[in-house]
Amino acid sequence: MIRTVATTPFDGQKPGTSGLRKKVPVFQQPNYVENFVQSVFASLEGYEGQTLVVGGDGRFYNREAIQTVLKMAAAAGFGRVMVGRGGILSTPAASCVIRKHKAFGGIILSASHNPGGPEGDFGIKYNIGAGGPAPEKITDAIFAATGTISEYRIVEAPDVDIDTLGTSSLEGMTVEVIDPVADYAELMAQLFDFDAIRALFAEGFTMRFDAMSAVTGPYARSILEGTLGAAPGTVVHGEPLPDFGGHHPDPNLVHAKELYDLMMSDGAPDLGAASDGDGDRNLIVGRGRFVTPSDSLAVIAANMHLAPGYKAGIAGIARSMPTSAAADRVASALGITCYETPTGWKFFGNLLDAGLATVCGEESAGTGSNHVREKDGLWAVLMWLNIIAVRQLDVDEIMGRHWAEYGRDYYTRHDYEEVDAAAAEKLVADLRARLQDLPGQSFGGLTVERADDFAYHDPVDGSVTSKQGLRIFFSNGSRIVYRLSGTGTAGATLRVYIEQFEGDTARQDQDPQIVLADLIALSRSLPDIEGRTGRTAPDVIT
Ligand code: G1P
Ligand code: ZN
Repeated sequence: MIRTVATTPFDGQKPGTSGLRKKVPVFQQPNYVENFVQSVFASLEGYEGQTLVVGGDGRFYNREAIQTVLKMAAAAGFGRVMVGRGGILSTPAASCVIRKHKAFGGIILSASHNPGGPEGDFGIKYNIGAGGPAPEKITDAIFAATGTISEYRIVEAPDVDIDTLGTSSLEGMTVEVIDPVADYAELMAQLFDFDAIRALFAEGFTMRFDAMSAVTGPYARSILEGTLGAAPGTVVHGEPLPDFGGHHPDPNLVHAKELYDLMMSDGAPDLGAASDGDGDRNLIVGRGRFVTPSDSLAVIAANMHLAPGYKAGIAGIARSMPTSAAADRVASALGITCYETPTGWKFFGNLLDAGLATVCGEESAGTGSNHVREKDGLWAVLMWLNIIAVRQLDVDEIMGRHWAEYGRDYYTRHDYEEVDAAAAEKLVADLRARLQDLPGQSFGGLTVERADDFAYHDPVDGSVTSKQGLRIFFSNGSRIVYRLSGTGTAGATLRVYIEQFEGDTARQDQDPQIVLADLIALSRSLPDIEGRTGRTAPDVIT
């Protein structure tokens, strides 16, 4: 039976690029999930009888939210819901399933790399039929609907069994519980040279994949240990836990420290890799060699023709503005364009759909291609394995040869977290006001060549997105970028991105924090970070 329930709007149900993200207790309020899901459906047209894909990263409240979504999708008139067994679907796998089965769209339950558990974060996001995050037109409509909602519709029925593969019926809607890994694994097998990777492992190649007790465990176990023959135990923290074992499922040098320390030790395996809560980010570390995401994008772009799915070559590269220029050097060597987009995956969608770019990446550990419309952590790992297997070089050798050929872009990102929001905004506003005066000024041997506030002109739909980060370029090719995070939940996070090119092979193997020391000092003094925020050093350095 379908029940119509009276409700009232909640404040602040504004979905960002990554959907609606709040603390679990916020989502647990009566009608909170229902209001948002009803507002999503209210913003869509023509879904009656169509397929909706539903799944999440397994975090606390995933199962409860999925039951609500199923019952509301049935009440809304969807014909079928495909849901991952146990409510599990990584974000890239959800994108893959949506595309493969020509679904109308999908609802993904995740808060990405944010901590989970009863006091942790939760999130809901809507993806369109192309497989990517909803564009602003839809998220604006969703937000508008959350402000006026007065009732929602839901089927009154016992909870659906989402732990057994197969189909059942819910008020006339088919519920199909699918293997969360199968479609994704099939796609990976089409893209990569699995025989070469299998041979690599058979020859004794060793690896550790840290799934961080999050969603990629089942995917990595099935593909790496099952199909590709990596030794059992290659995948650690492989069981998705509702609270990620109390950890922060973010594959960076701070939160994946255990893996990083192993890779820097004498007992390191050949390759270390990790992914985040919902499986879209990646970390790549060789024995004694950390690969920055910016370098990883460049290496992948330069070598991806070695993977069968990309043997025809790539049409173009896209990187977010704060990502280093390493990918630009590969693009110019290949004679293709490297598009520079604002931070956030959604800007890549148009370029991929239009066939202008084949591979995309962000300095924040997101890499992906036109195979889905989300960044894809395990895809990046498989790409590295494919490259290593074909070239028969280790990670350190691949990086060394890459830098020798293209030069090295020394890179670091400094994050000042939970800064007073007003102080952070004023810091950026005041620096923005100074930009026009900076060219020609010298700061201890560094002369500013040009400075601007990044604006993006989308070559596909002509839209303009402005105020995307303050860029200061120096005459020696160095760059400092300042922007405020759009995903933080407490106060403001000021991100400062610093890079410097080194073409001399003899000087390409140094510590970035030392090479970049002058620029780092300038990045602090120029906007007076200490005076304005009280911070003498960043909270996180990557
Ligand atoms: C951060 C990253 C950005 C990424 C986003 C979602 O956003 O910097 O590259 O797309 O998370 O994963 P920010 O907090 O910087 O706005
Ligand atoms: Zn994520």
